[in-house]
Amino acid sequence: MSKLLVKGGSSLNGEVRIKGAKNAILPILAATVLTEEECVIRDVPHLTDIANMLRIIEGLGAKCLVEQDVITVKNDDLTSHNVPTDLAKELRSSFFLLGPILGRMRRAVVAYPGGCDIGVRPLDIHLKGLREMGIAIEESHGMIYCDGGRLKGADVALDFPSVGATENLMMAAVLAKGTTRITNAAKEPEIVDLQNFLNAMGAKVSGAGSGRITVEGVPKMHGCTYTPIPDRIVAGTLLIAGATCGGNVCITNAVPEHLEPLLFKMSKSTCVISQQSDRISLSASGRPRGFDKLETQPYPGFPTDLQSQMMVMMSVAEGTGVIVENIFETRFRIVRELTKMGAMITVKDRAAVIRGVKRLEGAAVSAGDLRGGAALVIAGVRADGYTVIDHANYIDRGYESIEKTFGALGAEIKRLE
Ligand code: EPZ
Repeated sequence: MSKLLVKGGSSLNGEVRIKGAKNAILPILAATVLTEEECVIRDVPHLTDIANMLRIIEGLGAKCLVEQDVITVKNDDLTSHNVPTDLAKELRSSFFLLGPILGRMRRAVVAYPGGCDIGVRPLDIHLKGLREMGIAIEESHGMIYCDGGRLKGADVALDFPSVGATENLMMAAVLAKGTTRITNAAKEPEIVDLQNFLNAMGAKVSGAGSGRITVEGVPKMHGCTYTPIPDRIVAGTLLIAGATCGGNVCITNAVPEHLEPLLFKMSKSTCVISQQSDRISLSASGRPRGFDKLETQPYPGFPTDLQSQMMVMMSVAEGTGVIVENIFETRFRIVRELTKMGAMITVKDRAAVIRGVKRLEGAAVSAGDLRGGAALVIAGVRADGYTVIDHANYIDRGYESIEKTFGALGAEIKRLE
């Protein structure tokens, strides 16, 4: 378990180019299973979640090659339809391999997935949709056995706009006979990116981003070369860091539209934000002005994946604010760690009340999940003195060498193996 040593007190100044989005690339890598031809994915950051997804599809028989930020995948000789427990427990996203494996091989055995401990994260919406598409599903001893012999297009209404369930059903539908209509589908930009990737492979998917997705089944898919959208959560993390620590941060290769909920919120604070095509610049000095309320919602609402980072900003802002976390039931683990640094936060059910303090003090803290870990890095840069962040490997799941990224902006962060 690696640690990060963060020296507090720096402002952040400089420019960072944002790479491909983890939460777009993971379903895209799963979707490569749908063809035996070669797929090339560009602008891929080096993240442990992506490395683990590659290990899982290699376990199915895929040939994967990583050269700098380009991944080449060929699934011409799949030898297994089984996602074993040891790999599935590393990654929640292993579960949305179910759809493509069923689409390609009509059979699948997947272990219950792991992933960040931010809630119960059940799979009922995935399984209900797949059953409506004719998949016979047995669950026993933590394994899920699927027979896709009767896979067919169907009308599926999701009880909640689950990102993973939407992606799983899209990928199960592209090679199924007939038409599938998914209503109350997730609208995240990563869903639109998956649609674009599937269509680049020869699928007929439409409506992604609207909440109503239609998939016309096709007999075969082919390979393609694809550049995924930039990572809006990494971009948002850096902007929040700039607003919290002060300075001038510019991010390039960003899509401002994907960050609208954050940019709107920030425009109410003391920082100055400007946008030109794919560049977003933020300048901030002194204490940020807080927000009276922040509620996380499915896209296009405020993203849950930026909630912990906003909590850090609000913990040093003027005034008192409330965060309501509507997506995951236990995404407030960071509160205990921020309290060690002098933050004044109380939690009741899904609401956290944050009373802004002038300063945080460096302390020994522990990352409990990916985004909470990134938020602790922001807190460490903003604090007085030194902060040691344990379990930094959580952060590496979604941020490519975070110490180098923040270092390029002037922060002093060292990795202690
Ligand atoms: C995706 O997770 C993202 N992960 C998460 O990002 C993100 O926080 C989440 O979507 C919400 O935007 C990837 O894309 C790899 P959901 P996912 O299914 O698909 C409940 C990060 O930090 N639910 O939309 O697992 C679930 O419990 C990660 O990059 C069911 O009840 O999220 C949660 O409360 C963290 N039954 C809500 O829906 C189901 O069958 C949203 O979950 C499925 C989900």
